Amino acid sequence: MVDLSSRSEIAAFLAMDVLREAKLRSQRGEDICHMEVGQPGGAAPQLVRERAKAVIDSDLIGYTEALGIAPLRERISRHYMAAYGAAVTPDQIIITTGSSAGFLLSFLATLDVGDRVAIMQPGYPCYREIISVVGLEAKPLTIGPETGWVPDYSAVQKAIVEDNVKALLFASPANPTGAMIGNDEMQAIIELTRRHNVWLFSDEIYHGLTYGAPPVTAACTSRANPGKPDTNWAANDHVIVLNSFSKYYSMTGWRIGWMVVPPALTRVMEKLNQHLYISAPTLSQHAAIAAFDAVDELEEIKAHYKRNRDCLMTGLSEAGLGQFAPADGAFYIYTDVSQFTDDSLAFSGRLLDEYGIAACPGLDFDPVHGHYMMRFSYAGSCDEVEEAVRRLKARPLT
Ligand SMILES: Cc1ncc(COP(=O)(O)O)c(C=O)c1O
Repeated sequence: MVDLSSRSEIAAFLAMDVLREAKLRSQRGEDICHMEVGQPGGAAPQLVRERAKAVIDSDLIGYTEALGIAPLRERISRHYMAAYGAAVTPDQIIITTGSSAGFLLSFLATLDVGDRVAIMQPGYPCYREIISVVGLEAKPLTIGPETGWVPDYSAVQKAIVEDNVKALLFASPANPTGAMIGNDEMQAIIELTRRHNVWLFSDEIYHGLTYGAPPVTAACTSRANPGKPDTNWAANDHVIVLNSFSKYYSMTGWRIGWMVVPPALTRVMEKLNQHLYISAPTLSQHAAIAAFDAVDELEEIKAHYKRNRDCLMTGLSEAGLGQFAPADGAFYIYTDVSQFTDDSLAFSGRLLDEYGIAACPGLDFDPVHGHYMMRFSYAGSCDEVEEAVRRLKARPLT
């Protein structure tokens, strides 16, 4: 018998479990429509790949400085001004091994063991588990149709005042819903957390992938002039923005992301990064600079998501699965399947067995209400999405 830490009692990431099973079936020759993981179906932009090839031939690919290479930090800084009118200096940008590493660094830098972090339920499953493995406590706040599927101001206030949470973490656009917080709501929450000295971790990994209103960043805090240059970051010293090249930039496996932190945190992040990761992948850091110049290709990929989204929304509605959360961004549809089941895990098995459709059970995102919800990712090919819809319509669910 092996002795394990209590930390090892970590829950599985069900989407990845479904992926493993679905991949096995594909390898055995079964015709599976893959809608289980939030992963762009195509390669990284051509400019990124070309840059990577050139770097392999000309660079030693050694470690880099722990904060990340200067040209990438400078390029991201310019991106904040161009995309949001937010004045973020390169010093405030920390390059990470995907946003996943950013969460760990943020928690370690700002919170103590036992502190509570409010998260949204449903929400990205890894938040819960990362919080727990570092000895923090997750305080789930229920969101749903009654809150517009976004963080509810009074619930956040209650969590701060009554439950003594020390931090708030949410994503907009969100996984699994695609729902987005508006500018006024974001500013109100920023002010609330600032007033109470509570950390706000804003996961902006799906920025770029929105199909209506543009997303708002917590890095731009100018309430009087939303979207206008904000040079008053010092006043905003309890916000960390997490972002990544994984989604809009189609670079999941390159394991590269970034954080925007208050200036006082840069040195702490540097030291933590030195010890935990040394530096983010060097090749990916160089290649990521080119991602910002690949707008045409990236916008084409986004147009393809939009086509998939429209096709899936119509198809799911026609198949009796039309009660979904607002899919305003990201590449997911989170839908109610209570008409057919109260066991989303079994339902995902049934979809795989009977329809050859791999989708993710809601339980991954919400242990309470997720047993009657499913998440479908439309990040794959148009053919796959169209085929899934065809199968669902050809043999109606019962
Ligand atoms: C909301 C959200 N945040 C963070 C991540 C982690 O992404 P990465 O570590 O690739 O940047 C994901 C991945 O699916 C996600 O959906």
